Amino acid sequence: MVFTPYKIRDLELKNRWIMLAMHTGFAESNTLTERDYAFYEERAKGGAAAVTCLLAVNEAGALKGMYDAETVDRESLKALAERVHAHDCKLIVQLFHCGRNESEKNHGEKPLLAPSAVASPIFKTEPKEMTTEDLADTKEAFRKAAALCKEIGADLVEVSASAGYLLSEFFSPLSNLREDAYGYQNENGITYPLEVLAAVREAVGEYPVLVKVSAAQMVEGGYELADTLRFCKKAEEAGNIDGVTVTGGWHESPIEQISYHVSKGAYAPFAGVLKKYLAVPVIACNRIQDEETAERILAEGLCDFCGTARAFLADPAFVNQMKAGKPYLPCLGCNKCIMDVLKGKELSCAFNPEAGNEHFEHQRRKIATRKECVVIGGGPAGMEAAKKSAERGFKTTLVCKEKDLGGQLRLAALPPKKEDFLKYIDYMKYSLEELGVNILTETEGTLELVKEKNPYFTVLATGSVPEKQPIEGLPEEQYFTAQEVLQMEEEKIAELLRGEVVILGGGAIGLETAAFLAERAEEPEIKIIEPKNKMGMDMGAMARPLLNDLKKKNVNFLTTTTAALMEGRKLFVKIGAMTMFVSADTVIWAGGSASHVDTELTMWLMDERMSYAIVGDANEVGDGGNAIHDAYALFTHMYLA
Ligand SMILES: Cc1cc2nc3c(=O)[nH]c(=O)nc-3n(C[C@H](O)[C@H](O)[C@H](O)COP(=O)(O)O)c2cc1C
Repeated sequence: MVFTPYKIRDLELKNRWIMLAMHTGFAESNTLTERDYAFYEERAKGGAAAVTCLLAVNEAGALKGMYDAETVDRESLKALAERVHAHDCKLIVQLFHCGRNESEKNHGEKPLLAPSAVASPIFKTEPKEMTTEDLADTKEAFRKAAALCKEIGADLVEVSASAGYLLSEFFSPLSNLREDAYGYQNENGITYPLEVLAAVREAVGEYPVLVKVSAAQMVEGGYELADTLRFCKKAEEAGNIDGVTVTGGWHESPIEQISYHVSKGAYAPFAGVLKKYLAVPVIACNRIQDEETAERILAEGLCDFCGTARAFLADPAFVNQMKAGKPYLPCLGCNKCIMDVLKGKELSCAFNPEAGNEHFEHQRRKIATRKECVVIGGGPAGMEAAKKSAERGFKTTLVCKEKDLGGQLRLAALPPKKEDFLKYIDYMKYSLEELGVNILTETEGTLELVKEKNPYFTVLATGSVPEKQPIEGLPEEQYFTAQEVLQMEEEKIAELLRGEVVILGGGAIGLETAAFLAERAEEPEIKIIEPKNKMGMDMGAMARPLLNDLKKKNVNFLTTTTAALMEGRKLFVKIGAMTMFVSADTVIWAGGSASHVDTELTMWLMDERMSYAIVGDANEVGDGGNAIHDAYALFTHMYLA
């Protein structure tokens, strides 16, 4: 079903996959660039029935790096429509206004407008309450922006009324305290958004108009699904919408929206409720990124189209690949993209470093050569380096000492809900094989091997090794690294879990190791000790759901705490200036690691005047995404000599 055509109004879309709006932050002036074109074109070419780009209705409504309808160069927007159409793909333009949802720093001199002067819990800046004039101007801006989109050849417009941006702020009693006709007390605040939709319809006439809504606010005291349904129903009755895109809740919701903690298609039932009561097509989204989920929710009648933003970010060609039954790079729900964009950074993908660099990549040509490149290390940095090396034209050998590729990512896939990380490894293996990379597994990247290959260029992606803090009195057989624990036999893990476990380090590795262990016992006794004053400091917003899961399993957290010495079962710890003890049968090191590089090899490479580079953890310890981007960056300024 997912590959069958379907209509929105009179417009036929060739399949059910729509690339949803994703703010890129790429705009540097008011003219779209080759970088923008290449980003959307690649995804149009990759099989999307339609791709969505964003246009703020006016300057005040624009996020940092977003084009706006008032100042955008029309010809450049028109060229985008033509470029997308060339791939049998439709162009949707989302008409956007940020409302209060932008930082003061990134918004600059422009006013942050909102229904009422209530600061967003994320951005904390008090916005300006919209005056009657502001309301009229903004509505007019939506009208003009819609007319512009039709004029430049876009196929549909989508009015943004979701996630806590301007129009959705009217729906909520928390952000709409107005006492006039647009206040929450009048029709639950739907009047102004309905007027905006009417203005859009007036501007475009018989032309497809979508509205994007959050199913519910998902914030305590906020609006509910029934309110969203009422709004959509009224808009439909007025003849002002031809389809509804239904996402989850607002950005500030304490409920997970799009990370890997959300199961596939979990929010589709909300779309299903709207579909039941509306006649217009419904586009469901949030973690609908694979054929199985898409087919299931379509068959269950929960939606007419499947929308995804990040599946297209991770792999622009994922629809075509899926249709051909070939592997694709899946979105792993790591949320790096959204965390960055909410901070005003440019859009990027942790696992696909080419996202946003498509135009740059188009300017690079593969020149087949007999020059050899040897990459040592089969982890994320090594796999990416080998892929890029082969793509740039080197005859590439990837040397991996383990039986399988993946390195530390293979371990990162073991904690709960992270099994999709294995799909990334499978995809990379497939890509490397397609590119003809010579993969040598269970092979050490020794000096002898490099001497024998005598490559033109060597990449050292040899990762890092945990650097256990020495703890006086702690016997070796009671002290493991997180990496060792993740690879232990189940029997041995069960034995550890019969006693008390203390994990040293409350960053991502410590918390995820705790989750891995906690899943294996009814009442695990686990404590996590962290020197900093917060747990999960390296995880950003992704720490919250994990900490919540761990709290449910009664895992204890001790911050600003360091381990000092062990006496019997007593692990003495320092909490600030105070010393106390915690009971421990097993201690697990999840603190720092150190870069690992074979210095004998690098000294020899230097003596022989042979070029080499060090990438990933071996260069600087970070996460998998950092390692991949580091390896990619090397091949953005390394070409055949
Ligand atoms: C980096 C990023 C930026 C986004 N920007 C917007 C936006 O500007 N407007 C919008 O309506 N949705 C935006 N979204 C939400 C997506 O359109 C989509 O609804 C959401 O990501 C769920 O789909 P997915 O799980 O397939 O990514 C953004 C999502 C991401 C990840």
